[in-house]
Amino acid sequence: MKGLQTEALTIRFGGLTAVDGVDFSLTPGEIVGIIGPNGAGKTTLINLLAGIYAPTSGRVVFDGEDITAVPAHRRAALGIGRTFQLIHPLEDLTLVENVMTGFLFAGRRSLRAAREAAAALCRDLGLGGLNRSTGELNILETKKMEIAKALAVEPSVLFLDEVMAGLNSTETLDVIRMVREIAAHRNLGIGVVEHVMGVIKELTERVVVLDGGRLIAAGPYSEVSQDPRVVSAYLGGSV
Ligand SMILES: Nc1ncnc2c1ncn2[C@@H]1O[C@H](COP(=O)(O)OP(=O)(O)OP(=O)(O)O)[C@@H](O)[C@H]1O
Ligand SMILES: [Mg+2]
Repeated sequence: MKGLQTEALTIRFGGLTAVDGVDFSLTPGEIVGIIGPNGAGKTTLINLLAGIYAPTSGRVVFDGEDITAVPAHRRAALGIGRTFQLIHPLEDLTLVENVMTGFLFAGRRSLRAAREAAAALCRDLGLGGLNRSTGELNILETKKMEIAKALAVEPSVLFLDEVMAGLNSTETLDVIRMVREIAAHRNLGIGVVEHVMGVIKELTERVVVLDGGRLIAAGPYSEVSQDPRVVSAYLGGSV
């Protein structure tokens, strides 16, 4: 089966089970929301999928192959892309050089070819001024650079970890449009972690809800947002 699946994926940090028996799937072309309160395990799930962490138990399967033991750089080369919740641009590098790191991490290109591919990708995404230092970028450009870096591994599944955080509503709409276009034109499966439920409603066909590491609900946002467990764990009275 195409795309990414997990089976009873679990990771413990000492006494804390950060991800607890999670069955998750993402197939090419769909946009899935991953929501839940702070500390629910959303970023940890992405780290398990990207190979940053090895699970305590459970499996990660990609395009039908068990990749549970495959390291992060090889998963990137296989086509699993992600952004980072905490952005640390490489400040000594320019915009285009930051995007190049994505191409180089997946290990597919020479330095020169990576530079050309990074420049083309930035142009595609409407990012200009390629030789600017990252300090000269505004927040929207910085977010787009992070998405470009993630796309540089030429993923078939992509995880966006709170990329809209810190953007105003106009900028958020701009990124929503960009994510939709990416999903449609590149036939990507996209997993979106966001705390702004307007974004989740607008962008996703279905959501999974994590709470205390467990997957407590799954389905279209319109249904899940009515689920009493979800309301009490996360949405409070605000639905
Ligand atoms: N490397 C680690 N070592 C120990 N504990 C960790 C580690 N990474 C995450 N945790 C813990 O696992 C739990 C889940 O954290 P995680 O960052 O996945 O939450 P999250 O859902 O992404 O939250 P947020 O919405 O605040 O980003 C938290 O209790 C966190 O402190
Ligand atoms: Mg997080």
